[in-house]
This record gives sequence, C-alpha cells and structure tokens, in this order.
Amino acid sequence: AASLFESGSLTGARVVITAGPTREAIDPVRYISNHSSGKMGYALAEAARDAGAQVTLISGPVNLPAPERVQVIDVVSARDMLEASLARMGHCDIFIASAAVADYRPLSPEAQKIKKSGETVELTLIKNPDVVATIAAHEQRPFTVGFAAETQDVDSYARGKLVAKKLDMIVANDVSRNDIGFNSDMNAVSVFWNENQQSFAPRSKTGLAIELIELIAHRYQHYND
Ligand code: CTP
Ligand code: CA
Repeated sequence: AASLFESGSLTGARVVITAGPTREAIDPVRYISNHSSGKMGYALAEAARDAGAQVTLISGPVNLPAPERVQVIDVVSARDMLEASLARMGHCDIFIASAAVADYRPLSPEAQKIKKSGETVELTLIKNPDVVATIAAHEQRPFTVGFAAETQDVDSYARGKLVAKKLDMIVANDVSRNDIGFNSDMNAVSVFWNENQQSFAPRSKTGLAIELIELIAHRYQHYND
C-alpha cells in the first residue's frame, strides 16, 4: 500500500508497540483478562509502518490478522509482555504502550484444574510489573508513550500517570463511554505531554492512529533536537 504520509515522518525509527489484553492463568483452563480488542495498537502499528518506521508489535491474545510488514511477537501474560519489551531495548527509539495489561495475576496458579467445592472461593492476586514504567526507567530509555484507560476524572488521572511513570506522552481514553473505546472501531482521546494537551473528537481507530502517529513523530523529532 502507498504511504499515507507525504514524507516518512518516522523513516528509520524503530517503534515497539504493545497491544491487546494479557491473560493471567488461574489454572490450566482458566485465566483473568479484560475486553481489550487490540484494535488501537494494531492500527498504530500500521500507521507507524506507513510513516516509514520499522515496527514490532508485542501482542497479547487478540483476533486480528498480523499487519503486513510488521514483526508480531505474541505474548500471553504481563510478565511475558515485559520480557519481550525488555528484549527490544537497545533496538527501540519509540515505545508505545497501548496494551491493557492485567494489573494483578493469581499468586499461585494451580497446576491442575481447580475442582468446584464450596459456595464461595477466594483467589489471592499479586501485582504485575508495570511494563511501560519499567521501559521508561530503563537506561536505554526510548521516547515512551503510554495510554490511560479511565472511567472518571480522565484528565487528572492521565496527567498523574504521565508524571508517575515518567512518560513523554500519554493518550487518555474515557472507557466509561460504551459507544467508543474498548472493543469498538471508534475512539476519542486526549493526549497530554509536558503542560500541553490535544483532544481528538470521536473517529475511527485507523484515522485516529494516523493522527496520533503524526503527533508522536512530531514530538519525537523535537525530543531528539
Ligand atoms: N501498563 C503497563 N503495565 C501494567 C499496567 C499498565 O505497561 N502492568 C501501561 C498500559 O499499557 C498503559 C498505561 O500503563 O500504557 C496505563 O495503564 P492503566 O491501566 O490506564 O493505568 P495503571 O497504571 O494500571 O493504573 P489503574 O489501572 O489503577 O488506573
Ligand atoms: Ca491498569
């Protein structure tokens, strides 16, 4: 396909994108996960590729075809996603964390299928590593872009994550709207960096991805100057 960009705004840049949900095993047949479709991350991968970047997509389990001319690394759990991401450090200029990583995983997944017993059951969970915060703290730190999925106080929570995770930019999603965002083909976001903000009205994830990649490329250029 022809490039969507007049001149490749990311020519030569190595872009790593996390996408989709993670799955955290409870036992051999069960897991904890979420409704992330991976569509936003896959659309970003295609837009970055079309902008001239060399793209690696680190993907949790999704029902999407691998984009052409994008290297896809399939992962299952948050810890797998971190390991695959760390393995790309040193070969990564821009890291975009669009994945909906499970915050917690079962402390001790059972080796055998858990049998039904009492009326209630308790599951102890332990916190997962934060993939994007780990990458942003890495000595070979790439230009790092996070996402924030919020159902309330979107701007203040997103700005809080921008600072706490030491990100260069954050893309905030209002997931309380069920017409857009998670599992939809449409999305509306606000992007924050430094003291700045840019909002994007609802549009297709493919259209939004092209605009987000343009903005990221612009900020990345500035960061390198
Ligand atoms: N993220 C990550 N690793 C995790 C959790 C989140 O890399 N273990 C990344 C997501 O990919 C996203 C950003 O962190 O880019 C924010 O994710 P989000 O779930 O909105 O925020 P959390 O920091 O997990 O906080 P909370 O869920 O409590 O709002
Ligand atoms: Ca989270």
